[in-house]
Amino acid sequence: MFAKHGMVVSNSEIASRVGSDIMRHGGNAIDAAVAVGFAMTVTYPAAGNIGGGGFMVIRRSNGESVALDYRETAPAAASRNMYLDASGQLTNKSIVGHLAVGVPGSVAGMIAALEKYGTMSLNDVIAPAIELAERGWVIDSAFSRGLSGDSAVLTRFEGRRVFYPNGPALAAGARLAQPELAWTLRQIAERDLAGFYEGPVADSLVAEMQRGGGIITREDLRAYTPIWRTPIRGTYRGYSFLSMPPASSGGITMTEALNVLETYERPAPFGSTLWAHHLAEAYQRAFIDRNAKIGDAAFVAVPQDTLTSKAYARALRSTIDERRHTPTPQLNMAARDAMHTTHYSVVDGQGNAVAVTTTLNGGFGSGVWVRGAGFFLNNEMDDFAARPGSPNMFGLVQGEQNAVAPRKRMLSAMTPTVVLDPSGQLLMVIGGAGGPTIITGTSQVVLNVIDYHMSLADAMRAPRLHHQSLPDSLTWERGGLTDAVADSLRAMGHGLRATRALVNINAIMRVRGGWEGVHEPRSRGSAAGY
Ligand code: DON
Repeated sequence: MFAKHGMVVSNSEIASRVGSDIMRHGGNAIDAAVAVGFAMTVTYPAAGNIGGGGFMVIRRSNGESVALDYRETAPAAASRNMYLDASGQLTNKSIVGHLAVGVPGSVAGMIAALEKYGTMSLNDVIAPAIELAERGWVIDSAFSRGLSGDSAVLTRFEGRRVFYPNGPALAAGARLAQPELAWTLRQIAERDLAGFYEGPVADSLVAEMQRGGGIITREDLRAYTPIWRTPIRGTYRGYSFLSMPPASSGGITMTEALNVLETYERPAPFGSTLWAHHLAEAYQRAFIDRNAKIGDAAFVAVPQDTLTSKAYARALRSTIDERRHTPTPQLNMAARDAMHTTHYSVVDGQGNAVAVTTTLNGGFGSGVWVRGAGFFLNNEMDDFAARPGSPNMFGLVQGEQNAVAPRKRMLSAMTPTVVLDPSGQLLMVIGGAGGPTIITGTSQVVLNVIDYHMSLADAMRAPRLHHQSLPDSLTWERGGLTDAVADSLRAMGHGLRATRALVNINAIMRVRGGWEGVHEPRSRGSAAGY
């Protein structure tokens, strides 16, 4: 999609249109981003949320850039071993049910962004979401399939009444109204932060916790604060990019991998054995550091400067054997698949850019739906190392740095990113969903543009690869490697694992006279602009 002035690309067609309309009526990219965020709570509740958290990278048209961390925090009553049973084994309580829920940050984050950089009132940017929740909207087959897929978990909780009113999931074509959610959104519109973190919505949330053995208290909600941070700034072959610092690992890990790849004088031909090998080895090394060395910087020391330095990348490069895969020390098992996060990219006519990734973690989060307030709660606690050394639901084997502690932020892989061209002009707004594959997928689309001069549409469609150190396998999209290349990679010691699709990315790129927006061709979504 081409647009001259403003553009939104998200996983929800309705939400993209909401954002585009906000800009058409004079709002800036931040106003639009916040409106999209609230709208997606209504139209994409698997990941769009007020019961989860996220990260935002903003680059203003004056060149100023800033990152906003509205990641969930562990409740004050959380403890290191809360997900282990009496014999020290991991339970699934970090994934399903009330104990999996981190203190939600989305509402505070969106309000903070709007207050600092928006031009419209909270009431005006929430209004479209309230209307969608109140009047309802017609669901499509993708939405219905998503509900069916997660019915085993969701029907155990209160959301059953809304999404499975007669037993099976709502069918495509059904009109979905969410009056309880509309009421909650109205509370926020009228009372700002207190509309969510205090008063009747907070009461409903805490009551829901108490019904199901959760531990979030009113004090946890009152204490929640989003944090303004300095973006990670990396460079790659003359281009530069701004991305998310901890509590996300996204910016550091992407920078580390790109720095290693930059040490090769010329990028290997796209699709070749060496292309796959270099990506795998660079990502593997970056993830070894990620999983051991990054955590919430308020709790643990993060060697951010070292990990993102070019000198360190040269040292890592010297450990890469051009002919063999270097095995990762084995510790590990396979990852669980079903998941949901969502990324949206926004630019306005002035050139303000906003990259937002937000999530409940798993599809519909913990499955817990707040009775009376109408929204799902995250299962972000599983992003901690519930038992350091054991894999989480993404198969990530993480260390002590990311152990559970009261009020700590769990480490994320979300990578909302803004790319600048060599002259410092805004080039791309990008990010994705898919747990650890966010880092590898997002950076590959950027590489496809910079190294292989692809159009954004080609860069998005091109086959993707993923390596996260453990499990020690190179995941590839079926059909994405030629047989000869796959055989060569196996002979070099790579454990190949085929999958249907990697990463769900929504991106915008500057082109002559305006913007091009491309939603993930492997998933649902839409670009909207004017
Ligand atoms: O913050 C993280 O890294 C994860 N909670 C993201 C989860 C995710 O992307 C699931 N996606 N489809």
